[in-house]
Amino acid sequence: MISVTAPAKVNLHLEVLGLRSDGFHELAMVMQSIDLSDRLSFENTADAQLSLSCDDPNLSVGDDNLILRAARLLRDRSGFSELGASIHLEKHIPIGAGLAGGSSDGAAALVGLNALWGLGHSPAELECMAAELGSDMPFCVAGGCQLCFGRGEHLEALPATLQSLAVLLVKDPTVSVSTPWAYKRCRELNQSHYLAGEAAFEQRRQALRSADWLRPLRSDLPPPLRNDLQEVVAPQTAAVRSALDLLKSIPHSLAVAMSGSGPSCFALFSDLASCRQAQDQFAPQLDRAGLKAWSCALRGDGVRIEA
Ligand code: C5P
Repeated sequence: MISVTAPAKVNLHLEVLGLRSDGFHELAMVMQSIDLSDRLSFENTADAQLSLSCDDPNLSVGDDNLILRAARLLRDRSGFSELGASIHLEKHIPIGAGLAGGSSDGAAALVGLNALWGLGHSPAELECMAAELGSDMPFCVAGGCQLCFGRGEHLEALPATLQSLAVLLVKDPTVSVSTPWAYKRCRELNQSHYLAGEAAFEQRRQALRSADWLRPLRSDLPPPLRNDLQEVVAPQTAAVRSALDLLKSIPHSLAVAMSGSGPSCFALFSDLASCRQAQDQFAPQLDRAGLKAWSCALRGDGVRIEA
């Protein structure tokens, strides 16, 4: 049996640059893995079946689940149609939250089954397959702190030296946001300001590459945090507005933003101890606002096979 840890991510920066000819948005992002992880286990089966079970009844374990889509893609590419696996998912990352939980599970399936079936694909090959399945998936294979361009699949690793920072993550468990809806709404509202053309895109990428706060991330020069989808999602989603207001009211937080297409929001702290202290101190307010909270360290890696 093989066990794999699949961490969530937050967006320290999500900038919508423009539209691509494939209909996706051209993005400039900084993604950061955090210590809130699902766990997957993989076992060989004698038949050629791929089966998935999950401890969370709210999650579909049908053919559309990214874990099974990843498993089928990997098996199809291998040419060994007799390969089978029984997969179990222990869910900890909230669903539909903007934390790439589904993408990280799919990335974990590529990494776990590559090892279980002895296929010998390199991490770069797995990242290419991941890009076929979802925009955030290559990042989830690599993890840590990365610049992500294109749809999100062009990765440039950043120095992993920010490890003392921590995030207080909050989410209303009754609310989720559809990523296609968020991008569609962004297009409706902002398309007239979108940049056009590769030269303009590259200028913004270069500005992000040379941003002072990224070299390296540290608490005395905290990330300004930018998420262009926040301006689109927050006006339509009361849970995002109340989460942002609450996090902004916490003293000692360095910066506050929504993650991905929401509705999760987070505050950055200089270290895990002060993050946990804020979570304890603000527990009554979080409860009253109906927000679940997690204090998370930052991680320097993505999906990982456990010993
Ligand atoms: O790639 P992924 O499945 O995560 O994307 C979900 C949806 O979000 C896409 O179908 C698209 O509508 C939108 N999207 C986008 N531009 C991106 C990433 C996602 O428009 N860079």
